[in-house]
Amino acid sequence: MSLRTTARHAARRLLPAAVRGPLARIEQRLNAVRFTIPDRGRLDYRVEFDYPSLRKARAVILWHDDWELATKATLDAIDRLALVCDGDLVVDYGCGIGRVTQGLRQRHPARVLAVDRSTTMRAHARGYVSSSDVAAGAVEILSDLELFERGAELQGSVDCILLIEVLQHIPEPVLDDLLPRLRALLAPRGRLFLLGNDSLDVDRDGNSGSPVEPVLARHLQILRRDRWSDGFAHVRHSFVCA
Ligand SMILES: C[S@@+](CC[C@H](N)C(=O)[O-])C[C@H]1O[C@@H](n2cnc3c(N)ncnc32)[C@H](O)[C@@H]1O
Repeated sequence: MSLRTTARHAARRLLPAAVRGPLARIEQRLNAVRFTIPDRGRLDYRVEFDYPSLRKARAVILWHDDWELATKATLDAIDRLALVCDGDLVVDYGCGIGRVTQGLRQRHPARVLAVDRSTTMRAHARGYVSSSDVAAGAVEILSDLELFERGAELQGSVDCILLIEVLQHIPEPVLDDLLPRLRALLAPRGRLFLLGNDSLDVDRDGNSGSPVEPVLARHLQILRRDRWSDGFAHVRHSFVCA
């Protein structure tokens, strides 16, 4: 467990709730400032993901959580919901440095397309994901463009699409284009699994805090919603969609 996680656990035990709440909000604001894109339009991304430093790339992926605990909790949620079976074709969309792809491969012999729009994150992923998995083709690291260029080949064939800590950051107008394209890749019994915040950084009016659920429901059928707290610093929300 990291020093920050230990300190957070101690604070949770020792500080009264009246102090913990404001402290958590200050930490949230500091992180938001740390990773904010300085010059942006109203409908642009709010968060910068292109950090050549692996330390910063990891920090922007999980602002508050302990890496090992949160990764285990995420993989446990995927398993509890029986989302991935051995031999499945999985898209880890917005894979970052490959945290979930790598963990998933350690649990399941599934084939994973690890997709990220950031060249820098994909470069980190090439160092993080098992090189033998990449060499064997069990994991392919792709840009979003490369994924959709293979749209005809992949259409209707993907068993599970994971969006872990990703969707909340994508501006709503981009989601309205992206979600139907992802849905088209799903096999007839395929599932799209979203885990993260339940509100958007950027809605169609350029505001933050709009709920994720109506955007999802516009494009997919929501089969179940869950809340997860064990292993996470803050409650995470998930949706299983078809
Ligand atoms: C917070 S990180 C999460 C990374 C990873 N899913 C994890 O949980 O470890 C969000 C990632 O989504 C990627 N991303 C954001 N918008 C994207 C988009 N439209 N298409 C593909 N990737 C995107 C970012 O580059 C970043 O690597």
